Amino acid sequence: MSFTPPYPKPHRSKSSFLLRFVRGWRSWLDVLFERSYRMKMGHYRQPGLDVYMVNQPCWVRRILVEEPDAYPKHQLMHRMLEPLLGESIFTTNGDVWARQRRLMDQAFEQARLKLVFPLMMASVDDMLERLDGVADGSSYEVDGEMTYVTADIIFRTILSEHLAEADARAIYEAFIEFQHHAQRAMVLMIYRLPAWLPRRASERCAKRIRAVLAEIILRRYQARERGETDERVDILGALMDAVDPVQGDRFSYDEMVDQICMLFLAGHETSASSLAWALYLISRDPELQARLVDEIDAVAGTRPFEFSDIKRMRLVWDTFREALRLYPPVGFFVREARESQCIRDKQVKAGSPILVSPWLIHRHEEYWERPHEFDPDRFATDSGKDSLKNAYLPFSMGPRVCIGAAFATQEAVLILANILRRYRVDADVSHTPQTVGRVTIRSDNGIRVRLTPRRTAT
Ligand code: HEM
Repeated sequence: MSFTPPYPKPHRSKSSFLLRFVRGWRSWLDVLFERSYRMKMGHYRQPGLDVYMVNQPCWVRRILVEEPDAYPKHQLMHRMLEPLLGESIFTTNGDVWARQRRLMDQAFEQARLKLVFPLMMASVDDMLERLDGVADGSSYEVDGEMTYVTADIIFRTILSEHLAEADARAIYEAFIEFQHHAQRAMVLMIYRLPAWLPRRASERCAKRIRAVLAEIILRRYQARERGETDERVDILGALMDAVDPVQGDRFSYDEMVDQICMLFLAGHETSASSLAWALYLISRDPELQARLVDEIDAVAGTRPFEFSDIKRMRLVWDTFREALRLYPPVGFFVREARESQCIRDKQVKAGSPILVSPWLIHRHEEYWERPHEFDPDRFATDSGKDSLKNAYLPFSMGPRVCIGAAFATQEAVLILANILRRYRVDADVSHTPQTVGRVTIRSDNGIRVRLTPRRTAT
């Protein structure tokens, strides 16, 4: 059974400049209009700034894969996230980024995924214990738990620390607040209006999050300086050991705080958003859910999951893949045209922001069949495979592709398989999520499902 999950109804036509401002204030998805889902290139005139949206796969490939140096990351994104991420790999460019990526790649090599699997499992076991306390069939908002478990996984795999509930809540709340203010600061910056008010507020939230992380990193640096041996196999350890093969240096303490804050943010907020949406979608499709449970039983029965099980649960993968298609956590990326040039029929000036939007490309009427419908089986069809190859980029592509894509997929399949094996996930039909686009794609009023233990389910 396929169905169309909620998304903001597009306006009939492009909004005026003023309306775009008002609508974009709450969520950038509220600015979209019907043609946004059909066009290959869009153009928004702002005072003193022309913003372009490129949706055509051959141009997207050129920007992200073939000529990435001609389209570096735009300063807009850097300015929006800088209070939280500092000079992290997520927003830097050129030689600074290349060195950071060489160092980071060492900590994210394939072999490490297997090493961190038991750490992920430990977080998932704790999550199941918490869910046991709420799985009574009543309406339950899953966003908080998905944020908690993914943040805990990041804490354990990066820092070998368990995230205490009070810290988790403080970070969760600070980050939600940060998103509100950062989104508003960005809208104001695009419109060349003073952004200091939301900017200050976003700095205050960022400070709260950075303080929790900086303290842990400092302890590890100090222990290392005292010459203490460290047996931990986490990502912080790998990053502290990493030596740049070109320049022969390592990350300094200050650099490390920026990188770890970035990994923490990029590594849990995105995963939490996609998992909450995946559970929502599964709750609305009981037939699919029964097939998922059959697959999970066939692969692992009742024994604990093993690393090699992850790749064998194909339908769980495809379900997660479809959740990422419909609700890509990173809804758009911002690049900059280094040179003036012609893109399709538009004359683009040097320095102009170019947006590439997975949200629009994944729902484009020409690139996907029934683009707004939820249908994990689409990836098994020829047309779905074609679309996957040409018009699917939740993790971006090219040299700046998400460094944590394999990590995120492993974690998501593990979390979904554990939840589905233990609970029936039913819909709360009285609640409809309101999709908003801020730093990530989220539901403004949360995502609600009903969890019931399978052993007592009738
Ligand atoms: C479902 C989960 C995730 C999604 C959808 C996602 C998506 C993305 C996207 C779209 C980008 C590129 C953004 C741009 O070009 O502007 C990116 C970059 C990045 N992501 Fe992820 N991500 C996820 C999870 C993770 C995890 C778990 C980690 C690390 C633990 C991570 C670390 C990074 C890093 C370091 C970059 C910057 C890479 C660079 O610029 O060289 N991400 N991610």
